[in-house]
Amino acid sequence: MMEKIVLHDKTFKPFIPYAKLEAAIDSVARRINADYEGSKDIPILLCILNGSVMFTAELMKRLNFDLQLVSMKLSSYSGTQSSGVIKQVMGLTSPVNGRRVIIVEDIVDTGNTIVELKRILEEQGASDVKICTMLLKPEVYDKPVKLDYVGMEIPNAFIVGFGLDYDELGRNYKDIYVIDQ
Ligand code: IMP
Repeated sequence: MMEKIVLHDKTFKPFIPYAKLEAAIDSVARRINADYEGSKDIPILLCILNGSVMFTAELMKRLNFDLQLVSMKLSSYSGTQSSGVIKQVMGLTSPVNGRRVIIVEDIVDTGNTIVELKRILEEQGASDVKICTMLLKPEVYDKPVKLDYVGMEIPNAFIVGFGLDYDELGRNYKDIYVIDQ
């Protein structure tokens, strides 16, 4: 792990090493496998671009039932703050009508994104929607929507790495770093 990283005008320090993320992903995958193994339908794994690419790839490798990978791209963050306005930058790459969907998110913060996503998927006719997130900021999350699979809970701080960015930088680091105030 790097001692410090600098992205744009901010410095970040080590926070969650990759080994810890792997253990959390193992545990989430075990729970999802237990719920979906042996099912007759083909559930959709919905990767929310760009943030959850790394998590989705790691998670998929560990799932041992037939699934279909679908993506869509949303954006709500600008800089280090959630704007509260969710933009659909790219729609669903396949229809979800009549299908069971597992949303794969990198992080749930205010929950605005998850609420909007659930609404879109139900409107598009998904038969069931489950939410899987690598990380959750429980101090900020205030929505009534149940989070079905959570990898790890973290305090309310701005982080980068493992897919997460600060103005598009930092996604490629395999460990997670936190802002150094
Ligand atoms: P929410 O809508 O407030 O729950 O925010 C969810 C989205 O904001 C995530 O999918 C991320 O893309 C982004 N986000 C939230 N917290 C962080 C963070 O600490 N670092 C980088 N991106 C974040």
